[in-house]
Amino acid sequence: MSNAKYTVLVTGANRGLGLEFVRQYATDGYEVIACSRKINKKDNLHKLRVNFKNISIHKLDVANFSSIDQFAKTLKIPIDILINNAGCYPYSSINHIDFKLWLDAFKINSLAPFKMTKAFLPHLKKGKLKKIASLTSKMGSIDDNLRGGEYLYRSSKSALNMIIKSLSIDLKLYDLSFITLHPGWVRTDMGGPNGLIDSDESVAGMKRQIDKLSIKTTGQFIAYDGKKIPW
Ligand SMILES: NC(=O)c1ccc[n+]([C@@H]2O[C@H](COP(=O)([O-])OP(=O)(O)OC[C@H]3O[C@@H](n4cnc5c(N)ncnc54)[C@H](OP(=O)(O)O)[C@@H]3O)[C@@H](O)[C@H]2O)c1
Repeated sequence: MSNAKYTVLVTGANRGLGLEFVRQYATDGYEVIACSRKINKKDNLHKLRVNFKNISIHKLDVANFSSIDQFAKTLKIPIDILINNAGCYPYSSINHIDFKLWLDAFKINSLAPFKMTKAFLPHLKKGKLKKIASLTSKMGSIDDNLRGGEYLYRSSKSALNMIIKSLSIDLKLYDLSFITLHPGWVRTDMGGPNGLIDSDESVAGMKRQIDKLSIKTTGQFIAYDGKKIPW
């Protein structure tokens, strides 16, 4: 089956897992709306687009909510899958806290996926698949927190989990399905060289979970390999 009739929007698409989502969905024949906060014609996203006419690149800083509204207004096509991938990981410990960075982390990791969902709700309602996947982390699991620390990242991802859970309940009436995905510990700029898996394996796994997602399974916290993660 050709996927040309499906459209996926990916945030933070210029590197790491976002770039790999673009590569895999474009290979599958989806129309890919690749959003990046910096436009650099020499980056890997632009190099990838050379071979794929079904990728379009758009400038979008997810921390700039008025620019999200602006972009939503100009985009006139339905969206089948929204992937809230953009994220940041500012280091923190009990003795090393930057409150400004903490608020920035909440804006990018927790509030932006909510804002994206609200701004693109008309496009998602018109889409055929009606799926929203948000990249969270096992580090946002309260049950799984055995080592403490990392206040900024952990709390921003826990907040994201709660926000997505509420959206999955509030927007069920539109048949929209939500999933919060843990990508594994991945060798990207964020995950570092000691990660356990590469981006291609992580994204292939997350795509399988997005394929399986339905209104019956909406609102779950799942790892790339399909394991359910305790909240
Ligand atoms: N790698 C892992 O092991 C791991 C584990 C658990 C969860 N995750 C989650 O997976 C997602 C992707 O991680 P990654 O490993 O690919 O990270 P990464 O290599 O650091 O890439 C992060 C991406 O997010 C973008 N971004 C950050 N702030 C943004 C903003 N305000 N507006 C638009 N884009 C923004 C970055 O753009 P710039 O290039 O402009 O900075 C970059 O494209 C994140 O949500 C992360 O928390 C990753």
